[in-house]
Amino acid sequence: VLWYSVLTLLCFQPRLYVLGVFRKQRPGEPPLDKGLIPWLGHVLEFRRDTFKFLERMRQKHGDVFTVQLGGFYFTFLQDPFSFGAFVKESREKLDFNSFAEQLVYRVFGYKAVENDHHVLHNASNKHLKGEGLEVMTQAMMSNLQNLMLHSVGSATDQSPWKEDGLFMYSYNIVFRAGFLALFGNVPHKSEGGEEKAKEKDRTHSETLFYEFRKYDQLFPNLAYGVLPPKQKWEADRLQSYFWDAVSVQNMKAKDNISRWVWDMQQAKEEVGMDESMINKYMFVLLWASQGNTGPSSFGPSLLLSPRLPQTYSGEMTDGCKGLSNLYPPHCERFVIIQYTVTLSQKCEGNNYCLISKISPLHRSEQSYYNMPWGAGVSMCPGRFFATNELKQFVFLMLVYFEFELKNPNEEIPEIDFRRWGFGSMQPIRDVQFRYRLRF
Ligand code: HEM
Repeated sequence: VLWYSVLTLLCFQPRLYVLGVFRKQRPGEPPLDKGLIPWLGHVLEFRRDTFKFLERMRQKHGDVFTVQLGGFYFTFLQDPFSFGAFVKESREKLDFNSFAEQLVYRVFGYKAVENDHHVLHNASNKHLKGEGLEVMTQAMMSNLQNLMLHSVGSATDQSPWKEDGLFMYSYNIVFRAGFLALFGNVPHKSEGGEEKAKEKDRTHSETLFYEFRKYDQLFPNLAYGVLPPKQKWEADRLQSYFWDAVSVQNMKAKDNISRWVWDMQQAKEEVGMDESMINKYMFVLLWASQGNTGPSSFGPSLLLSPRLPQTYSGEMTDGCKGLSNLYPPHCERFVIIQYTVTLSQKCEGNNYCLISKISPLHRSEQSYYNMPWGAGVSMCPGRFFATNELKQFVFLMLVYFEFELKNPNEEIPEIDFRRWGFGSMQPIRDVQFRYRLRF
């Protein structure tokens, strides 16, 4: 019996290790709270009400603590005055890659290779800045025009107003135009003319958007590994859909593919990567480039709606100078800045999250304005393009349309905290608006 027990323990030891059972707080490390459930740790409570959970942990352990969430260890830093020193740490100490690699495999099926980051940064430096950025911005403009001017009638029509949810409308247009600008257009030749090709771009990008939105909603639970079987099945279906939709084969049949996407696809081909794996990488690029920009366009649209409650407008203008992540409640009460890096330790990886409650005191800190893009080692390389996209969208809204909220006295919706940690925040419900062409 004794031998049997020893043998069983030996067999299970590696698994128990993976489940995080043996991890202990080491000297100099923050308090460690693994929760009661192996591997899952605190993830269920964390997903149910992130803020309540973090507050509970803060009261229990103080400003810095480590918790286990769905197989990952996260260290939360809640003292904003320590952020600066933290993000300035060198790449040797803070390495974003290994956490990103695990996550990217879990949610996109892509297995990272050695040179990934280098290739990404080369392509981004060339095409998401300077002259490359100009070309992409022009492509964005023509795609925005195709999508926004289509089927809105004219101001002289009988019933010119169209109604929609402001969040969905903004997200939809910015996502689709961004997708077309990066991943290319249907060639005029293959469709037998420009108008037909433009129509195909509209219908194809519309389908893609609705599928993306479904994935977007499953994403947080998928990343934490807590999707129920039916939703996991749906997530798998959607993954396959995207691997095909942005596949190398489909892309090669397009015109105007951005150099950013093209260079990365070429680089993967050159190192002999399997085509099916390149398709998965294209899905990663789709996610990185489109997951945040669309939702971020809601704030500016809301800000521009003529009858925005006074209370928000003052906060907005001096609280948020950039155009990213402009969602009014961010500025009104708090901004959550998620920033993850993995400490390269000998055996156990750790993910760090910086959380800031914006108070008047540190609102004036310069670093706050830059944080929506991340900071330090993994700062967003698409930030210049994203800012242009948002400005272009807002500009065209103002030039083309008259628009107003349907219910001007409606409260601005709360942020959906269940998405905390996964890019731009989104509202829990939409705000209805109506719009019509100015001319
Ligand atoms: C408002 C829009 C956007 C926001 C708020 C945003 C935010 C971010 C943040 C915070 C990160 C760092 C992730 C982390 O540290 O955990 C990031 C990474 C990244 N973003 Fe963006 N992003 C936006 C738009 C874009 C666009 C338009 C592109 C491409 C055209 C892009 C490409 C990327 C890529 C490739 C990475 C990974 C960088 C790396 O691994 O070093 N992003 N983004």
